[in-house]
Amino acid sequence: MIKVKTDYLGRDVDYVAYADEIEKINQGIDAKSLPGSDFLGWANYPEEYDKEEFARIEKAAKFIREEVDTLVVAGIGGSYLGARAAIEAINGLYGDDKMEIIFFGNTMSGKMSKQILHKLEGKKFAINVISKSGTTTETAVAFRVLRDLLVKNVGKEEAAKLIFATTDKEKGALLELSKKYGYERFVLPGNIGGRYSVYTAVGLLPMAVAGIDIQAFMDGALNAKRAYDSDEINEAYKYAIIRHELYKEGYPVEMLVNYGLHLVQLGEWWKQLYGESEGKDKTGVLPDAAVFSTDLHSLGQFIQEGSPVLFETVILEKDGEDDVIIPHDEDNLDQLNYLEGKGINYVNNTAAEATLQAHSNTGGVPNIVIEIERFDAFGLGELMYFFMRACAASCYLNGVNPFNQPGVEVYKKNMFHLLGKPGY
Ligand code: PA5
Repeated sequence: MIKVKTDYLGRDVDYVAYADEIEKINQGIDAKSLPGSDFLGWANYPEEYDKEEFARIEKAAKFIREEVDTLVVAGIGGSYLGARAAIEAINGLYGDDKMEIIFFGNTMSGKMSKQILHKLEGKKFAINVISKSGTTTETAVAFRVLRDLLVKNVGKEEAAKLIFATTDKEKGALLELSKKYGYERFVLPGNIGGRYSVYTAVGLLPMAVAGIDIQAFMDGALNAKRAYDSDEINEAYKYAIIRHELYKEGYPVEMLVNYGLHLVQLGEWWKQLYGESEGKDKTGVLPDAAVFSTDLHSLGQFIQEGSPVLFETVILEKDGEDDVIIPHDEDNLDQLNYLEGKGINYVNNTAAEATLQAHSNTGGVPNIVIEIERFDAFGLGELMYFFMRACAASCYLNGVNPFNQPGVEVYKKNMFHLLGKPGY
């Protein structure tokens, strides 16, 4: 199970002072009596998910893996970040799997779009278009150009068999389009918002196509649900309380730190979860993310000695499976023989320990450590639920609704107006 460690926090936290508030929050989540309660479907989802659809997801993934070697996922924000984070964290960036997953619809850069389409030219590929509203501009534009290309490549009839749509069950442009062309459909339940949707088909279909054991992922989520859905101050609520205390003390920025470049997207997913949930009413901790030791060579200086605005939340894997042993070298001109026979993980873990000491003990930067067993399907399933539960509690501690995002609409309205969309 996940452990929240405070050895490098540099202060004591009075959890007991939060006991009543946390009890109310937990009961409020369960009773769906708090603001945003229409979007609490994720909380029980690891227990209550649709098993028939789950089986259909596995079947569709098998079909895709047999038919093509590329899946393009068209989606933005909560409609792709969870899948991408889980795929990269579990599979790494250079795995042996023949299946390539391309994420598109998450940018409107002409250069990126052209390159992706060029790569798919003349190719048989599959598309998973994901949009709850069915009208998100980035996703809709990407889907239109992808569909156009796929039809050119394989013909209309074949294309329809290779397109999978994940959207609302009852409404939206994508639902209508999917019905008209006969695409296989998966559901993003109405009571689950995008950034809380990784356990639905939104996350599961791309993950299953990437060869991930999605049952283990759901088992991990269930384990976490059982542990963190409690009136007591469990590990998820402990994390929420600590970051709330630090915010009150004058730390408006949280940096999530991971120790591997395959975890960059986990940081992106987490940034969306916390940023879009908590950043309201001129309150909230700004979520930032970094990967060490990589970013110690860029941001390390600021963290150690710059403006004291941030605290760090460091995720450490206890039991990393894959490793490379540093070999002996006859000449030892690189002077590394003192490390011969040691794993690169050992060096990474030592860097983590040294950095915690440097940032916390020397630099005075509060550090929360989240220890997880392993970045496998089960471990990620647990970790993502842990963060969701803690995020909801953090927002309620700040008095904001975790499940809306009214601020995101402002740029959309301006953009539609400038683009000349009818009605704007
Ligand atoms: O978390 C959210 O709700 C958002 O990030 C949405 O997922 C994102 O804006 C995409 O929306 P949609 O799925 O409707 O295309």
